[in-house]
Order: sequence, then structure tokens, then C-alpha cells
Amino acid sequence: MAEPEVTAALPEATWVKVAEVGDLGDGRVRTVVAGTRSLALTNCGGTYGALDNRCPHQGGPLGEGSIERGLLRCPWHGYDYDPTTGEPPGAFSDRPESFPVEVRDDGVYVSIRPPAPHVRTVSDVMVETMVAWGITHVFGMVGHSNLGFADALRRQEEAGNLRYIGIRHEGAAAFAASAYGKLTGRPAAAFAIAGPGSTNLLTGLYDAKVDRSPVLAISGQVPSKVLGQGAFQDVDLTGAFADVARTSRTVLPGSDHAELVTLACKTAILDRDVAHLVLPDEVQVLPAPGVAASGPTGRVPDLAIAPPEAAVDEALALLATARRPVVIVGHGARFDMPDVLAVAEALDAPVLTTFKAKGQISDHHPLGAGVLGRSGTPVASWLMNECDLLVVFGASFSNHTGISPYKPTIQVDFDRMALGRFSPVTVPVLGHVGVTARTLLGRLGDGPADRVDQRADVADRWSIWRAEKARRVADDRGRGVSSAAVFDAMGRHVPADAVVTVDVGNNAYSFGRYFECREQSVLMSGYLGSIGFGFPAAMGAWAAAPDRPIVAVTGDGGFGQYLAELTTAVKFDMGITHVLLDNSELGKITKEQRAVEMEVWQTDLLNPDFAEYARLCGALGIRVESPDQLDTALAEALAHPGPALVHVLTDTNLL
Ligand code: FES
Repeated sequence: MAEPEVTAALPEATWVKVAEVGDLGDGRVRTVVAGTRSLALTNCGGTYGALDNRCPHQGGPLGEGSIERGLLRCPWHGYDYDPTTGEPPGAFSDRPESFPVEVRDDGVYVSIRPPAPHVRTVSDVMVETMVAWGITHVFGMVGHSNLGFADALRRQEEAGNLRYIGIRHEGAAAFAASAYGKLTGRPAAAFAIAGPGSTNLLTGLYDAKVDRSPVLAISGQVPSKVLGQGAFQDVDLTGAFADVARTSRTVLPGSDHAELVTLACKTAILDRDVAHLVLPDEVQVLPAPGVAASGPTGRVPDLAIAPPEAAVDEALALLATARRPVVIVGHGARFDMPDVLAVAEALDAPVLTTFKAKGQISDHHPLGAGVLGRSGTPVASWLMNECDLLVVFGASFSNHTGISPYKPTIQVDFDRMALGRFSPVTVPVLGHVGVTARTLLGRLGDGPADRVDQRADVADRWSIWRAEKARRVADDRGRGVSSAAVFDAMGRHVPADAVVTVDVGNNAYSFGRYFECREQSVLMSGYLGSIGFGFPAAMGAWAAAPDRPIVAVTGDGGFGQYLAELTTAVKFDMGITHVLLDNSELGKITKEQRAVEMEVWQTDLLNPDFAEYARLCGALGIRVESPDQLDTALAEALAHPGPALVHVLTDTNLL
């Protein structure tokens, strides 16, 4: 049977062909589409009828009903309607709208009136306010309880004001939005339906929350009149989001809708946190003619806060006597690195980074000492151990980084709660990282006469570490590729301006240890350490930085959680190069079980051929089984304009 002709929105009343003659047998009904109208087309004894497809009772799809005794019966609750006039039998009064039908030689036609002009809705006001606050990307899934808001998103996308990226699982939307915020400092939106769609957002939103990434989360909700009664998909979303979101508000018919969005955006940006709005179904389409959107003008202060004079004096006093100071930078210093580097240069001090700050200084910079801690290098740990003063910018002292609590420490952060978070520091300095660095630089003295220029130490330690890395790169037991070889090859091929997203597990540890950054940005799930982050984060990075190469690094366990998102990447033609290290197990957990002398149990994984899977999805897929195939595979994948997956079979014992 031929599909009915589907037309675009109609400018005026007109006849629209909806079916071929003979498509619809006697006593049958089916759904057809004309313009933006969905209709129930019926044939009763050769008499055709067309009714609005929405049953006036509760919106049941009449086109999926049946003809019984000459009446069209709604499939949901069995209400009957005359198939040509829509009249209900008996004393009932509700009737669906009916439309004239003509059967012509070339098909069945329905006369459709032009759609009524769009009346501005609450959702229009809210989406325009989001746009005014600079939200240009929405990751989400359109569904039953968010259609009114989705329609407003569509209008703004058609106006060129935002981009909507429809994902396959809401968890990916939240991770993508979190990564977007981590890279840019600006929020994207994650969008879901009521109930399960919104609860699927939670993990990615927690990732954003604990890593201080701004995200606006938007949930559809069941209609207000059934809210809280246990209706289908009725979940107390403000309760469910109370912990993960700095603010979670349900939008009511009488709310100041623009102001609620403004407060949510302001919270996300200024508190670097998750803000959440819940939109009951019927509120989304309430008319709001003449209601203006709002925006950030006059609502956001200058955040370049200068540090208190006394704290600066204390910091300078420590710096004046330090022979071997080192600078440690965290993710919170990512937008102020030129100022921080100027301080390091003036102190002749190495710059160590947390894992989340990897790449904020090149590993080839004369003062670049790489990552500190569990994912780090002996270069960084040696220099920290030898130092006599730590100068820490924008880092949060996680266990993973292991910043020594025993060294005198100056900590600079503009978040007052981050200062001395886990243990006391010698001089906590509250201030904007860039402003504070410039302030310190402007007043730095010469330091002690015996201050050490540590560039030679940095070079020496890198020389020792690179020799060791070369030995590990050469390791080959014939049971797969070593992680050192993978990241050594990536170091040769990944462009300097790339954004690299990493998952968790052995792949992430090895990436931190072996991959030498130039100017690449690195994104990861830091405090949450959530498996599955790597690939959806690459989607968020692609949206945030469309002109930069995007590289995802994952293990087989992590990518297994979001396999279907490869189809999203293909659909939107995302230029993501995905390097997948496949050891067919949750390798880090195997290691942990062995470390505490447990039996290795339930960490093995049954995997598909990921390269073949990529090709099935429409992406480029390349399989790498030996180290000599790495260079060709990476070069081909990085040159590919769309999504490409390099499936590397790795040796689980060569980390
Ligand atoms: Fe049609 Fe209830 S929705 S009878």
C-alpha cells in the first residue's frame, strides 16, 4: 500500500491527497496525515470519512480504532462516533472535528483548513529566555509529556537560535550537557519527559554537579490535575531532583515563566551547578500572548573578584622564601592559564596538573610537569615531593590527585567552600584565579638567592620517564596492544587543538599517564567517576566546539553503556574519533579484586566486534590487533569527516 502524501503546513484551505484509491478496504480505518493534521480516514461501504484523529474523550488515536456497526470505535475506551460527521450516538455530545472527503480518479482527498496562526505559548516565553541567556544547545528526547516545550524548541531551532540534538538515552543527554559546561563554562540544556525520561538524567546531572559544570535540566511532567495522584509516569520530580539540582521548580500556570527560567539559568551559571525546571503537560501550551522573554542584562555581576589584601600579603611572604615552589593547577584554572603560567615563569616553578586539568599546560612546555596522582607521572610526583611550597590554583584536593597535606600551601580559588576543603592550607586566598595570579605576579620579589630554576629538573625527570615509557611501548606479548603503545601513537596523531574526552577505568589511568598533551583540552567524569561518560561527553564537546577535532577514549565497559549513541553521532554527522581499548573485561575491577586477594569474578565481558558494529551504524570502523596497525588506523580515523571508531584489542596486563 502506498504511503499517503504528506504535505507541509498549508497556507489556505485546500484539498490534500491522503491515500490512493483502493488503499482502504470497506469497513476499515487508518491514520493519514494532511499538512500538520493527523486524521482518521474511514471507508464504510464506499463512503469515505475523515475525522480529527484525537478522540475528544482523552485523545485516543481514532485512526487505530475499528468500525463496528457503521460507527468508528475509539481503541482506548470504546466511545463511538459517526465516521463521516463525528456525531456520537445517543445523548453524548463530544464529537471530533470532521473534514470533507472526495474520492477522485487519482486518490482520496481531504479538505483541510489552514492551521490557525500560532499563538505564543508559555513554552515560547521560556525557550526564548533560555536563548537570551546564551543556551544554544539542547540534548534530549522528545516524548509524551514534553511535546509543547519541544514545539517551542523547534520554532527556535528553525529561527536559527539553537540546536536540538536528539539522543537515544537521556543519560547521554545529561553527560553531553555536563561535558559542554565543563568545556565552555556555559550551560547547555538536558531535556526529558516525565517519570523515566527524567530519572534517566540523574547520573549525568550528578556528574555535572560534583564537577561544578553548569547545566539546565528540563522535565516534562504529567498534567497538573493528576500530579501527585500516582498517575502514569507521575514521579515527584522536584523531590527526585532535590539533591542533584541547586534549584528545582515546578512551573505553574500563574508563574512568572520568564523569571523562573532566568533564575534557573542564573543559578546554573553563577553557582556552576544543575538547575531544574518541571513543566506539567498543559502548562507548556498555555497561551502567553504579549509576554516577553527575559535575559541576563543587569542580572550577572563581574566575577573577577580581587583577593583580600591580607591574604595576598601572606602568600607573598611565603613565596619570598620558597626555594623550590611548584604550581599545581586544577580544572578551575582552565580559563586563566596565561596568568598562572606567568606566575610559574617568574618563580621558575614547574606546573603540575590534576587529572581533570590535564592539558592545561603542554607536556612539552619547559615547566610542564604532567599529571599528579593516581593517573599521573613520576615527573609530577617527584617535583611535588622535592618542593618546599605548593601554589595551587583552582584545584579541589581530591584523593585521586593526592596533593600533599604536609607541604606549606597557598590555595587560590574563587569558591570559598573549595578553600581548605579537606584539610587546612597555610594561606587560603579567595579570589578569581586570573586576577589573583596577576596580583601576585605584579608584587613578586626576587625570592631567595638560592631559589632553584627547576627547568633542568623538569627536563631531567621527563627524560627518565620517557625512557621508561619507550620500554613499555615496546612491550608486546602477542596478546594485544599495550596501552602505552596506544597513547604513544595518539600523541603523534591527535591534533594539538583537539578536545579529548575520557571514560573511567584502566583506559583513563593509562591515558593520564602516557598521553602527552600539547594544547588539547581533556574532559572526564572527575568526582563522580562515572562509567559511560566518554562517548556522550564527546557528543557534548562536538556541540560546544564544532571547529575542533573531537576524540573519545573509552574502554569496552564504558562504551557498552552508551552503544546506541553511535547512531546519534552518525545522524548528526559528528566528527568524533573514538579510540576504544577493548580488553574484554572490566580491567580495573579485575585489578582491584586481585589487589585484595579476592577471586576475579564477573568482570569478563562479552563484546561485539566494535569496528563491525560501527560500520553497521554507518560510521567508519577500523580494527587494530597489533601495534604496527595503530598509526595507519589513527590517521585514517582522524581524517574521516564523520564518526570513526578505532577498535583496539588490548593486552589487559600491559597497562
Ligand atoms: Fe477515546 Fe477514551 S480516549 S474513548
